[in-house]
Amino acid sequence: MLDGRGRSIDYLRVSVTDRCNLRCVYCMPEDGVPSLRHGEILRYEEIARVVRVMAGLGIRHVRLTGGEPMARRGCLGLVRTLAETPGIESVSMTSNGLLLGERMDEAKRAGLRALNLSLDTLDAAAYARLTRGGSLSQALSALDRALALGLSVKLNAVPVRGFNDDGLEALASLAREKPVCVRFIELMPLGCARALRPVPEEEVLARLTDAFGPPEEDAAPHGHGPARYVRFPGFVGSVGFISPISCEFCARCNRVRLTAEGQLKLCLNHAGGPDLRALLRGSADDAALADAIRRAVAEKPARHAFDEELGDREARRMNEIGG
Ligand code: GTP
Ligand code: 5AD
Ligand code: SF4
Repeated sequence: MLDGRGRSIDYLRVSVTDRCNLRCVYCMPEDGVPSLRHGEILRYEEIARVVRVMAGLGIRHVRLTGGEPMARRGCLGLVRTLAETPGIESVSMTSNGLLLGERMDEAKRAGLRALNLSLDTLDAAAYARLTRGGSLSQALSALDRALALGLSVKLNAVPVRGFNDDGLEALASLAREKPVCVRFIELMPLGCARALRPVPEEEVLARLTDAFGPPEEDAAPHGHGPARYVRFPGFVGSVGFISPISCEFCARCNRVRLTAEGQLKLCLNHAGGPDLRALLRGSADDAALADAIRRAVAEKPARHAFDEELGDREARRMNEIGG
């Protein structure tokens, strides 16, 4: 499906819940957030119907996000249903891993092939502080299980000044021995992240180059997202950078989002998009649903506008958007 600017949209990010078992400083406030009520979030059958209809429009890749997707009961059943949907070529998940570790085999049997794990530091005390209580050993055990099962694994780290910025070399060095992509994500100023200080990509890359030598560009495909990859000398895995602000990738954007409440979000940092839940729960048939989606995608914004104070800017937090 092409948007109004000729970009091909084939990737859907589905936020299955806004809840999370952690409270990462860049995503959620310490006291948590009032959770959506049961009837407000889409039922799994409703998500499956949207994905079926969107597969008919050209969506090929679906990623489940949250909050934490595994914080919603039955999430692996949804993985199975989506993986079996005609036209869908890959179902992946972005997770902190803590609730998934013990169930990695089940996730693979359900059809999960690729997993992005949030892992911001290898220092247990820093991990507990940044996630406000998370256990590093559980996150690492999820990583090891996923690798042992042959899943394609990428790690997501958001460098935040004063929280994890002294351990970035150690994190990157995971890719020296393990076949993983370690990705450094530029902090996006949404919700509680506005009060934090980012570490620019330039600084991260300079520090890693000092530590490991000059990297080479890695043009091999790793997933379907906006990261750019490099490989340091002697590393088996890659290091990636996702820098929406300093290295904007919107001109190549391939995605839209479905929020837990059923809004089709056209851009991470724009509030707009149609309420598909109202259509799903009204009398719309699949053709009407497809028509509403096609019309909305035609209006997808050109770019995120993090640098502008636009009226349509996203006011929600990352846990409500799904990243
Ligand atoms: P793959 O490359 O297919 O593995 O997916 P991905 O990297 O897009 O997925 P993931 O959920 O791991 O996202 C990694 C980071 O990229 C998160 O911080 C997301 O918020 C951010 N991100 C993903 N897509 C976009 C996007 O379209 N725009 C912006 N600004 N950030 C994005
Ligand atoms: N800026 C950048 N990345 C973020 N994430 C969560 N909040 C932010 C933010 N403010 C990342 C998490 C997770 C992914 C879905 O989004 O690290 O891996
Ligand atoms: Fe696409 Fe918006 Fe992300 Fe830019 S910020 S890549 S337009 S979703």
